[in-house]
Amino acid sequence: MNTNIGFLDQGTPHIVVLGAGAIGGYIGGCLAVAGANVSFLGRTKMLDIVKTHGYRLTDLYGRHSKLAPSEIHFTTDAKVLKLADFVLVAVKSRDTLAAAELLRMHAKPNVTIISFQNGVGNAEALANHLPQFKVVAGMVPFNVVTLPNGHLHCGTEGQLCTESNAVLSPLNTFFEKAGLPLKQFTNFKEIQWGKLILNLNNAVNAISDLPLKEELSQHAYRKCLALLINETLTVLAQAGIHPAKVSKVSAQLLPYILRTPDFVFKRLTASMLKIDEKARSSMWEDLQNQRTTEVTALNGAVVDLAKSIGISAPRNARMVALIQQAEQGEFKALTGKDLLQNLTSPP
Ligand SMILES: NC(=O)c1ccc[n+]([C@@H]2O[C@H](COP(=O)([O-])OP(=O)(O)OC[C@H]3O[C@@H](n4cnc5c(N)ncnc54)[C@H](OP(=O)(O)O)[C@@H]3O)[C@@H](O)[C@H]2O)c1
Repeated sequence: MNTNIGFLDQGTPHIVVLGAGAIGGYIGGCLAVAGANVSFLGRTKMLDIVKTHGYRLTDLYGRHSKLAPSEIHFTTDAKVLKLADFVLVAVKSRDTLAAAELLRMHAKPNVTIISFQNGVGNAEALANHLPQFKVVAGMVPFNVVTLPNGHLHCGTEGQLCTESNAVLSPLNTFFEKAGLPLKQFTNFKEIQWGKLILNLNNAVNAISDLPLKEELSQHAYRKCLALLINETLTVLAQAGIHPAKVSKVSAQLLPYILRTPDFVFKRLTASMLKIDEKARSSMWEDLQNQRTTEVTALNGAVVDLAKSIGISAPRNARMVALIQQAEQGEFKALTGKDLLQNLTSPP
């Protein structure tokens, strides 16, 4: 294990993962396995795990990569940012501004920052805080869970996306070698909203206290999700935003599919929804660890957008309130039926 900030090789771009948790550990780990020069900036708790066990990276297609502690450069010292050519920001939305401040203090002027965070506002928040740096928005379509002993498991499918930007070309080969090729888009706001629509299930999943596959197998939870998506689509239409198709099904079609009876849903999604038994939303993990979730960056973004154009989004607002209650230590799993009642009852 090397925690020294002078560990990195010269020559190839230095990539620093800022926020080495599930996504940062997984993407950075896959890049390191592929031979990229990666440093992980994270917390002491994760450092201790990685120091003992290294990383084990698996996915639903049978990826099984290992990095021994000696092959990982993991530090809790933000000065490592001084060495970075590229920084992959993978902190939760609540930590974006603190991460931006670390970058402002330590990163060199020509660094490129890629936000691999959910929500529609994180890359913008970084860019606003750091006008002197290049900030590129990214999107992670797949789910990664943190399992014991440094094991990070990617349990769903999807391809990493970023805004189109020539500045990323030195990274493309590494991402390809890592089995995570970057797909680049110009209309990134639409991609972000397309992803946010899928992330509306994070709160439903967290409140169900069930693995994703089990939650989505229940009609009542799917109806709740369909309500939240429909409301979001209405708000987006009124705001003139067209969410991109970021999964096999367009956002407009999703509510119809979600409302089908269980046996139809199972058949329809058998070939297009690859989720394994272990996958859960990271919002569920946050609630279990009594941490502030990203609900305000997800459902809350819908509520804010609605407000900004003079309408309301009561179902998403209700979902925000339920998760915030749970954040205050009042977590109580809701059945699909109870959640549906909650979302549809008058305020
Ligand atoms: N997990 C998924 O499946 C998934 C999928 C797609 C997108 N995403 C998005 O990816 C982003 C990251 O999610 P995640 O699940 O990887 O979160 P995570 O597992 O909580 O990882 C973030 C890590 O960053 C650490 N951190 C926060 N601020 C830091 C700082 N200033 N310096 C060093 N470390 C810091 C956190 O430590 P503490 O918690 O101790 O503060 C945590 O260990 C989120 O926006 C999420 O929505 C996640």
